[in-house]
Amino acid sequence: MRIVLVGPPGAGKGTQATRLAKELGIPHISTGDLFRANISQQTELGKLAKSYMDAGNLVPDEVTIAMAKDRMEQPDAEGGFLLDGFPRNVKQAEALDELLDSEDIKLDAVLDLEVPEEEVVKRIAGRRICRNDSSHVFHVSYSPAKKQGVCDVCGGELYQRDDDSEDTVRKRLEVYHSQTEPIIDYYKAQGLVQTIPAMGAVDEVTRRSLDALKREDGK
Ligand code: AP5
Repeated sequence: MRIVLVGPPGAGKGTQATRLAKELGIPHISTGDLFRANISQQTELGKLAKSYMDAGNLVPDEVTIAMAKDRMEQPDAEGGFLLDGFPRNVKQAEALDELLDSEDIKLDAVLDLEVPEEEVVKRIAGRRICRNDSSHVFHVSYSPAKKQGVCDVCGGELYQRDDDSEDTVRKRLEVYHSQTEPIIDYYKAQGLVQTIPAMGAVDEVTRRSLDALKREDGK
């Protein structure tokens, strides 16, 4: 399957994407994780991305689209992928459509994770991620690591993302409403959107997402 996950910052996209990708046997492609890997390796792309990310803005489309395209063209993504954080505006959605059209393939579904704003603020404030791998995600109250400050998966140090400060989160939410939400209508026009209530236990949200994908598959 080829799936896009949409939702505000802190909605649980990364958390759900890891589980859904495992369940469906497809790679989880997160542009945020790709940028963070570039930042920790101190690449030129990482240096460029960091200045935009720390301010809560989107990284420019040209570099983002090129990076996402390159990742989607890796052999492991031939049979499908789960996109998390891409596309993030209509221009990126159009670029993705062009890429898929050129290969004569289509998206199967767009899952829109719905969470009230006060909850995303709580989720982001308590989030801690691993220095070794930013897809290892914890929450100080909702899903605490067994040993405080230490990743359960690989033993790496847990830290708070630079862009999770209160001011930057406010800016990221503003950018989400103005630039990313319009892609929901873009995909509704293609009949692809499944709205997933994303409050409640992580397992429950995964079950709702898998049920929605089954409905989409049966169409
Ligand atoms: P990105 O890394 O994509 O961040 P985001 O979209 O803001 O989303 P988050 O990672 O903050 O949240 P999430 O929805 O994945 O939530 P999570 O699962 O961690 O992007 C960061 C930046 O990179 C952007 O601002 C931009 O600058 C740049 N960028 C990335 N892609 C780009 C693009 N395409 N174009 C341009 N720029 C781009 O969960 C949050 C917390 O809640 C965790 O602690 C988790 O444990 C907890 N949690 C999850 N689910 C539940 C639940 N059901 N109940 C209780 N707690 C839960």
